[in-house]
Amino acid sequence: MYNKVKMLLIVIGFLKYLSGTCSISLNELNIPPEHIPYIFNMFPNLAKSCVANAECPYKSLTKKNVCWGYEGNCNKSNSYHVRPRCPGDHRGWVKTKEAQYVTYYTQADFGYIKEQIQELMVMCEASYPSDSSLECSKYLRFCRGRNLMLNFTSLVGRGDNLRYKMDILGPGHIGGHCNFFSERLMQEAEHMSALQSWAPEMVNFVSLERSISEGICDVTIEKPTYIMKLDATVNMYHHFCDFFNLYASLHVNSTHPSTFSRDNHILIWETFTYESAFKEAFKAFTENTVWDLKKFRGKVVCFKNVVFPLLPRMIFGLYYNTPLIYGCERSGLFHAFSKHLLHSLNVKLQLRSNNKVRITLLSRGTTYRTILNEEEIVKALLKNKGYHVQRVVYDRTVPFTEQLEITHNTDVFIGMHGAGLTHLLFLPDWAAVFEVYHCEDPNCYSDLARLRGLKYVTWEDKNKLKQQDQGHGPGGVSHAKFTNYSFDVEEFLRLVELCAEYVRNRQDFNNFVSASTLKQSHEEL
Ligand SMILES: *[C@@H]1O[C@H](CO)[C@@H](O)[C@H](O)[C@H]1NC(C)=O
Ligand SMILES: *[C@@H]1O[C@H](CO)[C@@H](O)[C@H](O)[C@H]1NC(C)=O
Ligand SMILES: *[C@@H]1O[C@H](CO)[C@@H](O)[C@H](O)[C@H]1NC(C)=O
Ligand SMILES: *[C@@H]1O[C@H](CO)[C@@H](O)[C@H](O)[C@H]1NC(C)=O
Repeated sequence: MYNKVKMLLIVIGFLKYLSGTCSISLNELNIPPEHIPYIFNMFPNLAKSCVANAECPYKSLTKKNVCWGYEGNCNKSNSYHVRPRCPGDHRGWVKTKEAQYVTYYTQADFGYIKEQIQELMVMCEASYPSDSSLECSKYLRFCRGRNLMLNFTSLVGRGDNLRYKMDILGPGHIGGHCNFFSERLMQEAEHMSALQSWAPEMVNFVSLERSISEGICDVTIEKPTYIMKLDATVNMYHHFCDFFNLYASLHVNSTHPSTFSRDNHILIWETFTYESAFKEAFKAFTENTVWDLKKFRGKVVCFKNVVFPLLPRMIFGLYYNTPLIYGCERSGLFHAFSKHLLHSLNVKLQLRSNNKVRITLLSRGTTYRTILNEEEIVKALLKNKGYHVQRVVYDRTVPFTEQLEITHNTDVFIGMHGAGLTHLLFLPDWAAVFEVYHCEDPNCYSDLARLRGLKYVTWEDKNKLKQQDQGHGPGGVSHAKFTNYSFDVEEFLRLVELCAEYVRNRQDFNNFVSASTLKQSHEEL
């Protein structure tokens, strides 16, 4: 009997799935054109409706046999067009070249998504379509649920400072009407820390006697909702780790094309009103106002469809403190993230009228890590006729999208160690990054550049720089990050030229330059 019901449910679920894929159209989705072939292959009905629709501009993209890399039948040779390469030897962890590639792919590319999907476990099982359900990956790093109840009544009287708090929900404050495998869930609750997993919340899960359709909730949210625990809002490196994991989570949850729709909600797991110099980035994910918990303080809320995305400080997560295998570089997932964001914010490559290498020096308007002889260096760079040089300060007077516009049209990006270097994620594929000095934190941005597949250069000869003093940080800590520097100009120029030379040798750079000069001469005719 039970099995028959289950079978029937699967059939109903499948029919719903089919009708679901038909009801969403391509222009409701937020996808850069270069990603459309992947979507067509995942959701053949979208491709069919494009073929049938005279207006669909993407007909030529419906016949490409490509996949992101995590789909069940995805072949490496058809997978995302930007793939890792492993020029370095396979020392230490792995015995073969193949194993080295696979390890890197699983650590830092779409293989990471695949692993999350394969790990999904049913934690609370529905018996009827109107029931609730909950699925989570290992260690509760990613969860998704249907018809879940979240009880925020105990937030009344709690102050605003809830970031990183693990007791926002108490026992029984989250639940659903479904068959709950409590032991299974508790076994995965090992990573008990705010930004490592959803364990602090999920351990409070209970099975409810009544279905959520029976009016137990004060509010019901119909649209899919992503709940986010943020790492930081002021620091680009950390905040983009939030956005990166949200993007990765769209892929983990991509059983339905609506995963790339922006008709959804984002609920930030704190009671501060969200504000950030980088808030524009949310446009890549939602068209609606970002919520915080104030909205639901004192209420019992039911979510028809809720996603608890991957978090920014997971153990072996991406990209904060990720231990990466030696010898490999470039990740399709990072490439896709970059393209997704740039597309969403409508940031484009500008046509070039010459083949000069565009150099952007990011100047820091802060107390630490100023380049004391910056004037002199810029003057020297300006003398090189092969360069187009600009110095920028990315502060609050320059809107974030404008910053991205500058970065995306840069070939060599220069900056001192600091969160502003996170901009490298949005450089063109042929670009080089010159982290002038890493201030004794050598891995942070060299790894980020490695993941993004860019050339990375940093100061080599410590005898050719002058550190103002040993550095005095907040609270009296002494570290190379907390002081200013001046640099040998000749040596600086040599390292910049190393980057410029790399760019000039890139086929994609040359193709872009000739295509844009050609296009411009056409436009002038
Ligand atoms: C993978 O691709 C190759 C070449 O296109 C093909 O010969 C092979 O059959 C494919 N394998 C699978 C499992 O689809
Ligand atoms: C919500 O939580 C409060 C406080 O723990 C409790 O009194 C109330 O019964 C809960 N409501 C539901 C619907 O579970
Ligand atoms: C996540 O996946 C579920 C299950 O396939 C789907 O129903 C839901 O629409 C997805 N959620 C979002 C927010 O896209
Ligand atoms: C570093 O240089 C800036 C700009 O000249 C200055 O405002 C700041 O006080 C200097 N920092 C230290 C630690 O001396």
